[in-house]
Amino acid sequence: MERKDDAPILGIESSCDETAAAILAPDGRILAELVLSQIEDHAAFGGVVPEIAARAHLAALDAMVRQALREAGLGFADLACIAATAGPGLIGGLLVGTGYAKGAALAAGVPYLAINHLEAHALTARLPGQASAPVAFPYLLLLLSGGHSQCVAVEGVGRYRLLGSTLDDAVGEAFDKTAKLLGLPYPGGPALEALAREGDAKAVKLPRPLLGREGCDFSFSGLKTAIAQLLAVEPPGALPRARAADIAASFQACITDILGDRLRHALAMLPQASAVIVAGGVAANQAIRARLGEVAAQAGKPLIAPPLRLCTDNAVMVAWAAIERLRQGETSPLDTPCKPRWPLDTL
Ligand code: KG4
Ligand code: ZN
Repeated sequence: MERKDDAPILGIESSCDETAAAILAPDGRILAELVLSQIEDHAAFGGVVPEIAARAHLAALDAMVRQALREAGLGFADLACIAATAGPGLIGGLLVGTGYAKGAALAAGVPYLAINHLEAHALTARLPGQASAPVAFPYLLLLLSGGHSQCVAVEGVGRYRLLGSTLDDAVGEAFDKTAKLLGLPYPGGPALEALAREGDAKAVKLPRPLLGREGCDFSFSGLKTAIAQLLAVEPPGALPRARAADIAASFQACITDILGDRLRHALAMLPQASAVIVAGGVAANQAIRARLGEVAAQAGKPLIAPPLRLCTDNAVMVAWAAIERLRQGETSPLDTPCKPRWPLDTL
């Protein structure tokens, strides 16, 4: 298949509850960028419902890609490549995104690229225009989202070493579950952070699993259980706002302590890291961001957080990962399967 090396790249993201399409020039300039969140479709259920997510991707994706192409003034045949997230994620959404990308690639006669969602998060920091200078390999990635909590040594494109990950819940999941227990709306992270500002972080004593333990694995499920038990012995009736705020503040302080400690250990495992990169929705949390910044500074490393719209799920990161892969001469055959489970260190 003919390769157009100076042509733009289309990226598609549909692995969870954001439908997204983006078009990037081969140097990383963003030509079009669209994201549609499904939060409202799932809010009534208190979490992402896979079947609803898949149908919502199917309903939105085609119009979204066509709008991105219109904004960039391009047709499918002008593209160098059509890339889609092929895993990890919810299988229904992955099938919608990759099926669309493969069909369009076949029809337009352009190459297809299957992108690993975690690799896309990992490489976002290298997108030109994000940091003052390009982030050099190796760097430490702290991926903190609703589905993932991982410390990764990013040693090159396709070269990822998992230093630690959650043994149970993801950190965003811990925020969402705790927020639900406190009666806050989904997704709970932002609501819990807002409530925590009114509370006393020392009011409630909570366990800090794995704190000080060697390595940089995380564990959050005990924390959620501790809060559930705490609430079970509260007097019946609605939890007073001041009490809920104290619990929220104590929970957030606990998570902040755990993440700070785990980052300190991760940095000891990768002393040659050029920087610490945080990605994922939880990176929006100001208290967490501040603590991670302090810990990184103590080790003499800059903490770099891509702008929030590029930290959370988006298609710019998918197109950028595709550019990094294309530069290595890679494309994917059209029979490449989706992988709901696809750990970074198996790439
Ligand atoms: O990366 P993301 O948008 O989606 C994936 O999970 O892939 O992350 C969403 C997660 C949710 O669990 C949400 O509650 C959490 O990030 N989150 C936050 C904040 N904003 C979003 N957690 C804590 N504090 C926040 N400000
Ligand atoms: Zn993600």
